[in-house]
This record gives sequence, C-alpha cells and structure tokens, in this order.
Amino acid sequence: MDLYWSLLLLMGLSSLSLVAAFDDTLEAPSCFELTDDKCPNSNISFWIYTKSNPNGTKGNVTNLSLLTPQRPLKVLIHGFNGNRDYTPNDQLRSLLLGRDYNVVSVDYANLAKEPCYYEAVLNAPSVGRCLGRMLRTLLYHKIVKNEDIHLIGFGLGAHVASFASNFLKEPVYHITALDPAKPFFLVSDLAKKLDPSDAKFVDVIHTDVMMLGLLDPVGHVDFYVNMGLSQPNCGAKNKMDTHACYHNRSAIYYAESLSSPTGFYGYHCSSFKDFVSGACSTKDDVQLMGLDVSPQSARGRYFLDTNDAPPYAMGRTNKLNRQVMGRTYVNDEIMKKMFGIGTE
Ligand SMILES: *[C@@H]1O[C@H](CO)[C@@H](O)[C@H](O)[C@H]1NC(C)=O
Ligand SMILES: *[C@@H]1O[C@H](CO)[C@@H](O)[C@H](O)[C@H]1NC(C)=O
Ligand SMILES: *[C@@H]1O[C@H](CO)[C@@H](O)[C@H](O)[C@H]1NC(C)=O
Ligand SMILES: *[C@@H]1O[C@H](CO)[C@@H](O)[C@H](O)[C@H]1NC(C)=O
Ligand SMILES: *[C@@H]1O[C@H](CO)[C@@H](O)[C@H](O)[C@H]1NC(C)=O
Repeated sequence: MDLYWSLLLLMGLSSLSLVAAFDDTLEAPSCFELTDDKCPNSNISFWIYTKSNPNGTKGNVTNLSLLTPQRPLKVLIHGFNGNRDYTPNDQLRSLLLGRDYNVVSVDYANLAKEPCYYEAVLNAPSVGRCLGRMLRTLLYHKIVKNEDIHLIGFGLGAHVASFASNFLKEPVYHITALDPAKPFFLVSDLAKKLDPSDAKFVDVIHTDVMMLGLLDPVGHVDFYVNMGLSQPNCGAKNKMDTHACYHNRSAIYYAESLSSPTGFYGYHCSSFKDFVSGACSTKDDVQLMGLDVSPQSARGRYFLDTNDAPPYAMGRTNKLNRQVMGRTYVNDEIMKKMFGIGTE
C-alpha cells in the first residue's frame, strides 16, 4: 500500500484517474478533448446570480446585463468532476449573494468529467480563455471594474482562473485558489499553472498537499491548514474518499471565514522545514485567512490548525501541531525526505 501511494505522490498523478484506468470492471470512458478553443462554446457556460435572482440565469455576451452594475463580482469555478452547483458553489454562493455581490458560476462539467482527468487538464486553458473573453466584455462595457473582480477556483478551477487572467490586458485584481490541483500541474512553465503573476493578489488555501492539491506555494500568500496534511472528520488516511474530503474542506473553511466571529489566523513561517522543527516564532506575523485576508500585508507561508468539528476556526491559537510522522498515508522515511527532517 505504502509503495503504491508514494509512487502516485511522487509522480504527481491523480489516483482518481489511475484507479479508474486500472480498474477493468469500468467501461472504457468516452473522454472528450476540445479540438478548438472557440468562444462561446456550448460546453462552457456562465450562470449569473444576484440577490434578486438567486436561482441563476444562463448568461452570454449579450445578456450579461443581468448583473447589477458596479457591484463586486465573485466568479466561482468548479474543479474536476464538478458543475455549477458543486464545490465551491454549494458552500459559497448563497453566502456571497447574502452580501449582495454579483456571482457568476462557470460550468464546464462536460469537459471535466470523471474519469477523464487528463482531458480535463487539457481542456482547462480553453475554459479559461472563454472566461477571460467574458470578463473582457464586462470590463469593456464597464459593468464591472477590474478591482472588483475576484475569481475563486477550486482544484482544477484554480488553474482555470489563472488561464482566464492570462487572456486579459492586465491581470484580474484577485484570485483565490482553494486547494489548487496538483496532478499534471507539477510543471515549471508558469503559463501552464497558477502563479502570483496571474492577479494583483493571489491567496491560496492548502488542505491536501499529499495527494490532490499542490504542496508548493503558488500565491502571494499560501495558508497551510493543519499543515495541509490531513483534515478532521474525513476518514481513514489511506482512502481516496478521505483525500476528496480534505480537498473539499478548503471551500468549507473559506465559507466559514465569511461569517466567523473567531477567525482563521495563520502564523508566518517561511518553510515547512522551519515550521516542523519549531524554528519559527508564532508571535510576529499573524494574518487572517479567508474572504477578509489582507491583500496588502499577507505575504508568504502561514500555518494554522482547526477545531475537530465545525465551527473550525480557532482564532489566535498558536499552539500548533508540528507533527508530520504517522499523520498521512506516506511512510516516515519519505516524509523525512520531503520535509527535510534530520538533514541539514
Ligand atoms: C428558486 O428556486 C426555488 C426552488 O426551486 C423556488 O422555491 C424559488 O421560488 C425560486 N426563487 C426565485 C426568486 O425564483
Ligand atoms: C441569456 O442567454 C442564454 C444563452 O443564449 C439564454 O439561454 C437565456 O435565456 C438568456 N437570458 C435572457 C434573460 O435573455
Ligand atoms: C445570447 O442571448 C441572446 C438573448 O437571449 C440571444 O438572442 C443570442 O442568440 C445569444 N447569443 C449566443 C452567442 O448564445
Ligand atoms: C461538448 O462536449 C461533448 C462531449 O461531452 C462533445 O461531444 C461535443 O462535441 C462538445 N461540443 C463542443 C462545441 O465542443
Ligand atoms: C463537499 O462539501 C459539500 C458540503 O459543503 C458536501 O455536500 C459534499 O458531499 C462534499 N464533497 C466531498 C467529496 O467531500
């Protein structure tokens, strides 16, 4: 078991697609890869929600006027095997409408269906391109100002946000990446994944660094919740469903941040190694994670823990769990190498 999982981890591949590929009881899937990147595309749609239209309307470039002009715009982008009602939409949409924001939910479900993860990754830039086109139209018609655009992407959707921004004259103001996807994004080419140049401010919440999400920082600020190693109430640490739950939890923490009286406070530490060894002081640089993160002062890596059940926010509690051994499905030797424990 250890070897199998570690191999997946080191290859950066999704066991979601691999398990499906290896399981010959499943029928051969009809995976679909876009052959052109024309916009509009019938498989990429934008759904418009406002306080007075909470059930949403399918939009296109001629009827984006359904948006309330001059309100902040939150664009929710689902991940692999999602749709406009899945993570992060189900956790966030009603809360954002409650604040009277305009919400657009992107839907590219047909292009990102299980088990076709590889094709979903190939399709993601086209989804980003059409989203970028839509945003350009909004900006052109002055329905929204750039500083009011906030893209919130989950998993694969976080990279879609980055691709969308690349199609604009200047990057969007704000991207929030909820556990940005790892499989096939362990690439050095910044045009092919999320990075800080994709928005004036990129904040990232990591909740499954060992499997479905990225371990490395990709934003101006990267929050590692429970070190991103495991999340409470998700099940046995070597099950795939457990990792789907860790991954999903990023959106649940973000949703809680919208109304939490306690707050999720992260403690700055520039590296995992220093965090694990206790070399970082948890006094100086403390930043709030979530919707009210500070675009001006939150920079670098921050660590925080959560309660074992909702409400998850712990406030300013700096007694953090720095243990890595035995906490994940990966064996201790590999953990030691990954986190530089016992080496100089
Ligand atoms: C939205 O949908 C729900 C359930 O389908 C319905 O009860 C409600 O009246 C709808 N709201 C509006 C404003 O159309
Ligand atoms: C907006 O455009 C979409 C896609 O063509 C269409 O389905 C929808 O009915 C339109 N909505 C309005 C209010 O015109
Ligand atoms: C957009 O919506 C309008 C109004 O519903 C419709 O007339 C038009 O054909 C649609 N355009 C596209 C490209 O779907
Ligand atoms: C939409 O996706 C389906 C597969 O889900 C595909 O057969 C169809 O050709 C796609 N349409 C476009 C315009 O890409
Ligand atoms: C993600 O969270 C939502 C509730 O916020 C839940 O309905 C859904 O089942 C969760 N998905 C996974 C894979 O845990």
